[in-house]
Amino acid sequence: MLERILQICLLKIEIIMPKQRILVIGASGQIGVELTLALRKIYGNNNVIASDLREQNPLLEGSGPYVSLDVMNKEMLHVQVIRQNITQIYLLAAILSATGEKNPNLAWHLNMQGLLNVLDIAREENLHKVYWPSSIAVFGPTSPKVNCPQQTIIEPITVYGISKYAGEFWCNYYHQRFGIDVRSLRYPGLISYKSAPGGGTTDYAVEIFHEAKEEKKYECFLKEDTYLPMMYMPDAIKATIELMEAPASKITTRTSYNISGMSFSPKEIAAEIKKHIPEFEISYKDDYRQSIANSWPQSIDDTIARNDWGWKEEYNLSTMVKDMLDNISK
Ligand code: NAD
Ligand code: SER
Repeated sequence: MLERILQICLLKIEIIMPKQRILVIGASGQIGVELTLALRKIYGNNNVIASDLREQNPLLEGSGPYVSLDVMNKEMLHVQVIRQNITQIYLLAAILSATGEKNPNLAWHLNMQGLLNVLDIAREENLHKVYWPSSIAVFGPTSPKVNCPQQTIIEPITVYGISKYAGEFWCNYYHQRFGIDVRSLRYPGLISYKSAPGGGTTDYAVEIFHEAKEEKKYECFLKEDTYLPMMYMPDAIKATIELMEAPASKITTRTSYNISGMSFSPKEIAAEIKKHIPEFEISYKDDYRQSIANSWPQSIDDTIARNDWGWKEEYNLSTMVKDMLDNISK
């Protein structure tokens, strides 16, 4: 299905769009690797420039250009945008929820200044589009727990959530004030097997697969009944590309769209894994990440994304678990 969507996008782009040159910042990360590879299929390998502070992820090697880049160095970023004739930026560099609580100043600085650098350069260079992800972490303990709506009480308790909520308003501001076509999704916890997650509260839902395969047991850092919104990576890539390819007239939310895939607890994902690996056992020892998880909603209402640009997920808990286990074996 993702392949078909990529082909349709490619056809549309070849017919109607001027040549696009895309810079992915944070391309070696959990989302960056898969998004870069998907964008290269649509726009051509040489038109998608991967960049990161750390070295290139081995999965990207040989698939297209890579530049070493610190998003905090605005001058160097600006030089690359001009040198590479960039028309769109996907900004994925950030410090996530769990790591952010260990170094709040650094998280705030990177998550805010990195975004402002990109938005400023987008304005100065008249870039066609900018993509920047927000997160379910914008929500806090006073937000509704079930089917949390797009607009509601939003009082985040983590530095990550605060930076994402502030970032959403900067995106909206640059759109309203300077006409930048910046688009955003509030991703749930993302589950993938290609590139490891980078320090989030939802990382248990990736670790559990590797431990189940290798050790047949897993000690979870969240309590068994902690429900959180989650999404399988192919759905996250599909949502990102569909949002970015939608006509601007369809985009009514310029802060960031709620999107939803599935919700489950550690107990439920463990039971699903056990259907494939009967010897698998899970135990629980919660840590500081429990209070972060407790502050987030259990499920998300994404009606606006569904109505505006036709969002629909493909994977549920059982299809995701089967696909993860099949691919981790490979
Ligand atoms: P990640 O930590 O796996 O990847 C981030 C990448 O950014 C890393 O490769 C890192 O080296 C790079 N980076 C860090 N500082 C940089 C800098 N100064 N300059 C250039 N690159 C730098 O994160 P991810 O999970 O891929 O997340 C990508 C985006 O999606 C982030 O904005 C994150 O908040 C958001 N998001 C992720 C999830 C999830 O579950 N993974 C959920 C919600 C939102
Ligand atoms: N998966 C992310 C985290 O746990 C949510 O933004 O931080």
